Amino acid sequence: FRLPDPRNEPNPTYKRGSEERNKLEKALVKLRSQLPVQSNIVYDGVAQKSAESWDQPLPAEHGTVFTNYPLATKEQTKAAIESALKAKREWEETPFVDRAAIFLKAAELVTGPYRYDLIAATMLGQGKNIWQGEIDAAAELADFFRLNCNFAAEILERQPTRGSDGMWSRLDYRPLEGFVYAISPFNFTAIGGNLISGPALMGNVVVWKPSPSNVYASSLVYKILLEAGLPPNVVQFVTGDPETITDVALSHRDFAGLNFIGSSDVFRSLYGKIGEGIAKKSYREFPRVVAETSGKNFHLVHPSADIPSAVSHTIRGSFEYQGQKCSATSRLYLPESRAEEFFSALKAGVEDITMGNPEKDLEVFMGPVIHRRSFDKIKSVIDSCNKDPSVKLIAGGSYDDSVGFYVSPTVYQVDTPDHKLFNEEIFGPVLAVYVYPDSEWTCTLKKVDETGGGFALTGAVFAQDRRAIRQAEDALRYSAGNFYINCKTTAALIGQQSFGGSRSSGTNDKAGSSDTLRRFTSPRLIKEEF
Ligand code: ALA
Repeated sequence: FRLPDPRNEPNPTYKRGSEERNKLEKALVKLRSQLPVQSNIVYDGVAQKSAESWDQPLPAEHGTVFTNYPLATKEQTKAAIESALKAKREWEETPFVDRAAIFLKAAELVTGPYRYDLIAATMLGQGKNIWQGEIDAAAELADFFRLNCNFAAEILERQPTRGSDGMWSRLDYRPLEGFVYAISPFNFTAIGGNLISGPALMGNVVVWKPSPSNVYASSLVYKILLEAGLPPNVVQFVTGDPETITDVALSHRDFAGLNFIGSSDVFRSLYGKIGEGIAKKSYREFPRVVAETSGKNFHLVHPSADIPSAVSHTIRGSFEYQGQKCSATSRLYLPESRAEEFFSALKAGVEDITMGNPEKDLEVFMGPVIHRRSFDKIKSVIDSCNKDPSVKLIAGGSYDDSVGFYVSPTVYQVDTPDHKLFNEEIFGPVLAVYVYPDSEWTCTLKKVDETGGGFALTGAVFAQDRRAIRQAEDALRYSAGNFYINCKTTAALIGQQSFGGSRSSGTNDKAGSSDTLRRFTSPRLIKEEF
């Protein structure tokens, strides 16, 4: 068989008056009229209630409940795991073409009948504007479903080279002998789709716990998969308190793999629990652990850089989706000789940024941050910087939570990159800048590597001088899992820029490539003599 050729889903223009714009506006009105929308735990193919539930408010209007969903109990989590395990044998025996067909069909449902419902859910639930909603909940989600099929096929085709006559050696790419536990973050609806589709395409069953702040859009993704023909027990949708669900999943004998995207702190605690489980021989096999976590991503500008272009990339990298992408730019190193020019263009660009409720003004550049906890954390960083005499405010520095969780795009200059602004992840629209003497380019390369809080997710160098690009690429070899030259740290495209970080940013198993799918297999080598 041959799968459809890999391609990235194109983004419509959403021009005023266009058909897609009208459809999206209708989807937003429909969703608003249904608030609060109800989400459910689903396992064994049946929606489950629970005595306790949570409300997620609209980030843009926290007085209004967006969605209500049940908190799974320990017993329900156990039951979900058991139904996944029950489905395992039949799913792994389902031919790959049939598994792939389900995800290819799901991609058609995403880009066809569900496109605008998914985007509307992500705009309301996550506070994204029209473009950020489109590139996430429509294009990237469909890309993951389609391209993961190609990545899976690439693995299944990988076989030993033919050695001698009279025998045949082949690899049987078995799924893991147990279930995969997938934990998805709030900031990309597409990520949930990736964390489940990769392992499922390789024949695994999955227990999926979406972020408590991305339940409704995730439940649509799940609904689409069932409609595309995914047997109900292959993926279980378990919502609720992360600790309760995780404790049950990680203490189960058949826990075989973790597919995680979230913060480094949470990942450290999960890894610790898995380590304890391994030490106590709680598991049948050593679980696979795949994680992409936090970052403190840099833009390093060389004196030879094209400044207008570097400024525009910095504004987009730092402030699109309110700085809530794990790949967002949050530390900037500027050469003294170009600092004035850079700052003046940066200030003008930041002043032009529009901020508001994306539901009311679809094209607003920045919406709210996700929730109270996040708002309070960013607020405390801003308050402390505004009081710190060693920190200079370049732009923004204000916030407003009277209606929604709004933080202005903020830029601070510090006099040393050892400052905590250069070393702690904020996950919000706050950019820290350090101006280095041009003569200290080599020292600065070292400093870029040594600062950033031990994270190594994404980074970029801006330079026209090829020698400087070469020096940066060499000196920063371990400073970022995704290294960009003359372009921003965000917006990796599935199949083109595989994505992931090392050091404290994760296991670098590269989402958007076959590498990550291979981790959810346990190959058996079969040698037969004739
Ligand atoms: N993969 C996303 C990006 O590159 C997070 O921005």
